[in-house]
Amino acid sequence: MHGSNFNDMENGIRHVAVIMDGNGRWATSRGLERIEGHYRGVEAVRHTINAALEAGIEYLTIYAFSKENWGRQKDEVNGLMELFCKTISLEVPSLIEKGVRVRFLCDRAGLSEDVVGSLDYCENKTGHCERMTLLVALNYGARDEIVSAVKAIAAKAAGGEVSPSDIDEKMLESCLYTAAIPDPDLIIRTSGEQRLSNFLLWQAAYSEFYFTPVLWPDFTEESFREALCEFGRRKRRFGKTE
Ligand code: FPP
Repeated sequence: MHGSNFNDMENGIRHVAVIMDGNGRWATSRGLERIEGHYRGVEAVRHTINAALEAGIEYLTIYAFSKENWGRQKDEVNGLMELFCKTISLEVPSLIEKGVRVRFLCDRAGLSEDVVGSLDYCENKTGHCERMTLLVALNYGARDEIVSAVKAIAAKAAGGEVSPSDIDEKMLESCLYTAAIPDPDLIIRTSGEQRLSNFLLWQAAYSEFYFTPVLWPDFTEESFREALCEFGRRKRRFGKTE
């Protein structure tokens, strides 16, 4: 599979989304602080980006921080915010070199100025890149995303811009963070957990799921290729018969 373009396969794949789980367990099982697991998780993100580029994937989405993650210990939350600030700015030259455009699926309200500054910097600097789009879900919650979309449409309806009968799936989709981005074909979750955890609820309607016991810091380019191979064996019917 090395070097092959998965878009040549029967099950053409454009968008892979990843729930990066298991950093904490990886760290505590080694007697390390949880934040060490998150730092090691950045390595796995690099491997995943490289493997996705090699496979010709157009969109790669990673779940970095959920709205619910604010409920963690203050130290861990602060450590993660510092990690995002540092890593996101530091990675910009390498992302540009690889042709990766970065966009954040993100509620910027509630994030510090430093974090918002690094997200804006990264989006602006990589905006011209065309080989792959990396979508980073950060301060993201799928229900919250849908509620925001509904509010935007309701405001238009109240202003007389749209009538309720005009509201359809396309209109709602156009108000999501992922407007104009194809739905994920494949969603990978590491660490053995098998749930969606408020990730891309609308967009996952017909996604294939791949669960692996591998903890996120141990996820390699080969792990990503294994997931793509499994995807290649799935029969996708989108609710129809064959
Ligand atoms: C889930 O593992 C992981 C997170 C909440 C953080 C993910 C963030 C990274 C991998 C860093 C990505 C970096 C950038 C720049 C986007 P967990 O802590 O829930 O693990 P556990 O279930 O073992 O406790």
